[in-house]
Amino acid sequence: MARHRRRRRKRWVEGVGLGNLPPGASVQGSSVVENLVTPFFTVSEKEIIAVVGATGTQGGSVASTFLSHPSSLYTVRCLTRDPNSSVAQSLSSRGAEVIKASLDDPSSLKAAFAGAHFIFVNTDFWATYISLLPSKGAEAARQSARETEIRHAKNAAEAAQANPALERYIYSALGPVKRASNGKWPSSTHWETKAATVDYIEHEMPALAVKTSFIYVGIYATNAFLYPKLNPSSDRYETLINCSPATPMPIIDTANSTGPFVHALVSEPPRTKLLAYDSCMTVAEAVEAWKKTTGKDAEILELSVEQMRKRTGLSSEVLGGPGFIGQFGYMGGVEGWIGPDQLRNRPETKSYEQFLRTQSEHVLLNYSFPPL
Ligand SMILES: NC(=O)c1ccc[n+]([C@@H]2O[C@H](COP(=O)([O-])OP(=O)(O)OC[C@H]3O[C@@H](n4cnc5c(N)ncnc54)[C@H](OP(=O)(O)O)[C@@H]3O)[C@@H](O)[C@H]2O)c1
Repeated sequence: MARHRRRRRKRWVEGVGLGNLPPGASVQGSSVVENLVTPFFTVSEKEIIAVVGATGTQGGSVASTFLSHPSSLYTVRCLTRDPNSSVAQSLSSRGAEVIKASLDDPSSLKAAFAGAHFIFVNTDFWATYISLLPSKGAEAARQSARETEIRHAKNAAEAAQANPALERYIYSALGPVKRASNGKWPSSTHWETKAATVDYIEHEMPALAVKTSFIYVGIYATNAFLYPKLNPSSDRYETLINCSPATPMPIIDTANSTGPFVHALVSEPPRTKLLAYDSCMTVAEAVEAWKKTTGKDAEILELSVEQMRKRTGLSSEVLGGPGFIGQFGYMGGVEGWIGPDQLRNRPETKSYEQFLRTQSEHVLLNYSFPPL
């Protein structure tokens, strides 16, 4: 926070300048500058964070963290396609500026980003994919979702670069699954789109790259892969997964922990790549935590991709995730990343076990795979 204060003061001196002192004011020493500075800070020097995806899980956490920050240092600008939605209205009632903007509309992004010091952007793959899957099939849905997410990410990056007030751009990324696995896992397009965006910013947008950091949000604590499900034929709970039970999983309560990690990240130097998680534990340890919380027994079945496809109906788009993580690690192919312990100010977030204890038994016993 002290670093933020220093930065705000510097901006005042540079931006307003001693030549623009209010009428009648004179500079007699640093204490006079200090006295003059104070009223201007409180009125006009809140820092603006613009949040894309503020009505969703990741962005909602970011908006909440900055809105509820005890220092009240921030103006939180939430972008949404529908300012009248109940979530947007709730953000507004908590003090956010809610602005209508779409990742499909570059001019709306430029207007919404104007004057923002920090910008958080999360792009979504799944809404497009899910909407097209029934009518077009997996391959066409995947292709269209890929083009849409990359277009959205480029629109956001280009609008951010056009904002001279920008200090830090934070994009929610995932790793280059296909490249890192030498083509062994070619089908996790929702990872590839985000990795392609990282490449685009780093190689095609140098002016933005020097102001950018990436957050790699870990596996959502609500991800169905982590949870045992009742097998009606054996009446036993089973975790089905296509990787070893010994595979480490960086697990995050996305709705609550993304924001604190993004807040910590804006104080880090640019070009930081942060893997954000509450607990890093193996699949076996995660299932043990579930067993302890629910009091139920469960076993883990490590299956091949083909067996998983047959048992769950999941597509290669989804099954590529655990397959890749099992062989190459969640951050396979990402160079120079840091974990939460390497942050200068690691936020205190709840562990996965604590997250489980906040969930109802009904929820913990009834996870199912989505029809993907
Ligand atoms: N499941 C996992 O374990 C996991 C792990 C890491 C990363 N991820 C990634 O997380 C992403 C999803 O994030 P999430 O869970 O936060 O999504 P979410 O809860 O579904 O929210 C999506 C957000 O995107 C906004 N949005 C969608 N289209 C938009 C557009 N055209 N213009 C402006 N805003 C738009 C929506 O805002 P409005 O509707 O208000 O406009 C909404 O706020 C996926 O891409 C996935 O790959 C998932």
